[in-house]
Amino acid sequence: MRIVLVGPPGAGKGTQAAFLARNLSIPHISTGDLFRANISQRTDLGKLAKSYMDAGNLVPDEVTIGMAKDRMEQPDAENGFLLDGFPRNVSQAEALDEMLRTESMKLDAVLDLEVPEEEVVKRIAGRRICREDSSHVFHVTYSPPKQDGVCDVCGGELYQRDDDSEETVRKRLEVYHTQTEPIIDYYKTQGLVVTISALGKVDEVTARAMEALQRDE
Ligand code: AP5
Ligand code: ZN
Repeated sequence: MRIVLVGPPGAGKGTQAAFLARNLSIPHISTGDLFRANISQRTDLGKLAKSYMDAGNLVPDEVTIGMAKDRMEQPDAENGFLLDGFPRNVSQAEALDEMLRTESMKLDAVLDLEVPEEEVVKRIAGRRICREDSSHVFHVTYSPPKQDGVCDVCGGELYQRDDDSEETVRKRLEVYHTQTEPIIDYYKTQGLVVTISALGKVDEVTARAMEALQRDE
């Protein structure tokens, strides 16, 4: 299956993607995680991306599309993938369509996670992620680690993302509404969008998502 996950910052895309990718046996490809890995490895791409991410803006398409394409061309993504955080504007969606067309492939579904803004703010304020791997995600209240400040998965140190400050979150939400939401209409014209509520416990949302994807087949 080839799936795009879309939803506001803090909706739980990364959290759900980890479970869905495992259930569906496809790799979870997060452009945010790829940028954060570049930042921690201090690559040139990481340095460039950080300045945009810390301001809550999108990293320019020229670098983002190339990075996403390279990842999608890895052998483990041959039979499908779950994209989290890409595409994030209409020109990225068009580039993805073009990429798939040249390989005679197509998307199966665009899963749209709906969450009210006040919940998103609570989820982001309590989020803590792992220094070693930013896909290891916790929440101080909703999914606390067994030991304060320590990742359950790998023992790494937990910290608050630099772009999770109140001011940057406001900017990220604005960017989501103006630049990312239009891709939902773009994919609606292709009949690909399945919208679910992302409220409730993590496993309830996963079950809802799996049910919606199977119904859509
Ligand atoms: P990215 O990392 O993609 O951030 P985002 O889209 O803002 O999404 P988040 O990671 O904030 O949230 P999420 O929906 O994954 O929620 P999570 O599962 O962590 O992008 C960051 C930046 O990189 C962008 O701003 C941009 O600069 C750049 N970038 C990335 N992709 C790009 C692209 N394609 N083009 C250009 N620039 C790009 O959950 C949040 C919290 O809630 C966690 O603490 C979690 O434990 C908790 N939680 C999750 N589910 C539940 C639940 N059901 N109940 C209670 N708590 C829950
Ligand atoms: Zn970890």
